[in-house]
Amino acid sequence: MRKPMAAGNWKMFKTAKEAAQMLLDLKDKVKDVEDREIVLCPTFTALESAVNAVKGSNIKIGAQNLFWEEKGAFTGEIAPGMIKDLGCEYVIIGHSERRQYFGETDATVNKRIFAALKAGLKPIICVGETLQERESEKTFSVIETQIKGGLKDLTKEQMATAVIAYEPVWAIGTGKTASKEQAQEVHAFIRKLLSDMFGKDTASATRILYGGSVKPDNMKDLMSQPDIDGGLVGGASLEADSFSKIIKY
Ligand code: PGA
Repeated sequence: MRKPMAAGNWKMFKTAKEAAQMLLDLKDKVKDVEDREIVLCPTFTALESAVNAVKGSNIKIGAQNLFWEEKGAFTGEIAPGMIKDLGCEYVIIGHSERRQYFGETDATVNKRIFAALKAGLKPIICVGETLQERESEKTFSVIETQIKGGLKDLTKEQMATAVIAYEPVWAIGTGKTASKEQAQEVHAFIRKLLSDMFGKDTASATRILYGGSVKPDNMKDLMSQPDIDGGLVGGASLEADSFSKIIKY
């Protein structure tokens, strides 16, 4: 009932031209894939060329962030409507790198989610604990705070288009993937929180992706878990070869 998703987060890599080249290659490699949703999230400057490169294919494009105001004197920011206007369908919100380096909080995540939904974009909302939090056994309380704060005041209907990504910070870019049991435990916990907040039907329809050193050789194992519905992939989404293997795990 939940369509598996492979989403790529390109972070601050690839020019517009490089993005288009990779996508043309990927498009060909995954043209027969129908049973899973494929999304790539380039930098703002590559969004337009990415949208053009995937036209008529089964690949969708998302942004990596947005600002919550529709327009105004906010130098350097990008409005939700601008991203939508380019033909994007998704937007990543609250990635741990935004939380760590750019002052993102659960309150600003919440504002961005509402702004994205208002513009007709589907949010991919990231949560995850740091190594220190895991080691001091705070994983569940951290996740609970992020989910409850980030998704505050959302309606069931709004939640229906959202995707959650559980990304333990200690697993991002480190080559240290969470074990499938570690990931499943947190995914099940998130689903239980969603059920308490939005009801059982919404919770069981919401996709929860795992992110953090997802590679072609560990995707299948992760996907064997009942509450893992896909991957949010950084490094391994940069090359068509490795990302297509993840998509076809
Ligand atoms: P990684 O990044 O796959 O390179 O660990 C994942 C992410 O930050 O979304």
